[in-house]
Amino acid sequence: MKAHVGVVGLAVMGQNLALNIARNGYAVAVYNRTAERTKQFVEERVKGEKIIPSFDVQSFVESVERPRKIILMVKAGSPVDEMIEELLPYLDKDDLIIDAGNSHYGDTNRRLEELSHRGILFLGMGVSGGEYGALHGPSIMPGGTLEAYKMIQDVLTKIAAKTEDGPCCTYVGNGSAGHFVKMVHNGIEYSIMQAISEVYDVMRKILKMNSVEIGEVFEEWNKSELASFLVEITYKIMKHIDEETKKPLVELILDKAEQKGTGKWTAQTALDLGVPTPSLNVAVFARTISHFKEQRKELSRIFGEKKRVHAEQRLIEDLKKSLHFSMFLSFSQGLWLIHEASNVYNYNVDLLEVLRIWKGGCIIRAKLLDLLRSILRENPQNVNLLASETTIQFVKEKLPSALKVNSIARESGVPTPVLSNSIDYLLSLTEENLPANLIQAQRDFFGAHTFERTDKQGTFHVEWQELE
Ligand SMILES: NC(=O)c1ccc[n+]([C@@H]2O[C@H](COP(=O)([O-])OP(=O)(O)OC[C@H]3O[C@@H](n4cnc5c(N)ncnc54)[C@H](OP(=O)(O)O)[C@@H]3O)[C@@H](O)[C@H]2O)c1
Repeated sequence: MKAHVGVVGLAVMGQNLALNIARNGYAVAVYNRTAERTKQFVEERVKGEKIIPSFDVQSFVESVERPRKIILMVKAGSPVDEMIEELLPYLDKDDLIIDAGNSHYGDTNRRLEELSHRGILFLGMGVSGGEYGALHGPSIMPGGTLEAYKMIQDVLTKIAAKTEDGPCCTYVGNGSAGHFVKMVHNGIEYSIMQAISEVYDVMRKILKMNSVEIGEVFEEWNKSELASFLVEITYKIMKHIDEETKKPLVELILDKAEQKGTGKWTAQTALDLGVPTPSLNVAVFARTISHFKEQRKELSRIFGEKKRVHAEQRLIEDLKKSLHFSMFLSFSQGLWLIHEASNVYNYNVDLLEVLRIWKGGCIIRAKLLDLLRSILRENPQNVNLLASETTIQFVKEKLPSALKVNSIARESGVPTPVLSNSIDYLLSLTEENLPANLIQAQRDFFGAHTFERTDKQGTFHVEWQELE
């Protein structure tokens, strides 16, 4: 028996994805660089599924039916190139390699180009949902040629999460569109995680709530329009008690946030493409700042204790609206970035489809996505979702609370970078007159960079001071 699909890489994601495919009725060939991991996988996790293990690359490739469809689930970066090089001698023309890791879209473009010269089809595919999603149904974002997608479409749509709007998988677009969209998904994920953490910080530092009480609030919120995977895991985290100390475990976790790069790439790309994504970008910096634990400890000692202002418990309602506001604007920024990239890189991404496949399986799935889809459906050109009556209404309801939270947090010395940058993003974009006129004047003053005028056409320069 030959396998329908091959999976390379049997760490958490690869194991679960292989099992998911097999449980949907396909025979799956598997290979991992370190044989021990393959053995362990087969012994401990395979329970009658059609999994065909191999311990060398040639046998693995030969165990997959032609044209082959081989999914790579290995560490992003050079391991993907190394694995492709190892596979190539045994592949035939029109075989398909699918890179399902978190590769940088620039690498995906390069691989697409290189492999097309060698007659091999290639898809760059984002997979979101962690190990649970990989096993039970992730959100899948494949990009490349439509021809390549068609070869694997049946498998992907079967294994993807399902919602009332269909399987959470679509052909995202040309070239590296799949990895680009997955990268921005992660950028939005960083921003929402940070916004939730800021709300938590206000609750514990200003409202003096304990973790279990905070967990109860998030649990309630998860039954409302804020319902989302990230709010759900937050309440579960808050209520998780450490067996050893009997304290909420979250209180024992060191406040240094790690990152693997996709948030940083999103921020860098937004800067390169000139799209404003301040909430997404500061979420990355918030993790960076968290790393300076020793310095923070020392400076907090030198600067002394911050005076927290008193706030009533009803601030919780404002926090809820403030979080909702930031979540909305995080999506607004991310969608705008995808739209711009789609134009610049000819991805041809359908943003409505992107929002649809984020509804299930993925880390940023949220009830809010239905609202965003309805706004975008009204006017598909409204790529940052701002120019809509629904958005105006939403902002009217949420902005006063966001401002109140921002003000109380500021007065109390609690940093809320995502909550406050979301406000500035909205205020700036809804302001006809920004002080950029002064910046232009300053640039012209010291660098003769010229400026445009509001009262006549052309480019101007003024001698602001006498040069001796
Ligand atoms: N973990 C998540 O929640 C998650 C979610 C979405 C996407 N992703 C992405 O999915 C991919 C896999 O993630 P993961 O967490 O399962 O595993 P990982 O820790 O990123 O990677 C480990 C896997 O890569 C293999 N590998 C590393 N270097 C290799 C090389 N030079 N040649 C061949 N194989 C090599 C390892 O093989 P050995 O056993 O031989 O070391 C192992 O199978 C990554 O791109 C990750 O960013 C992860």
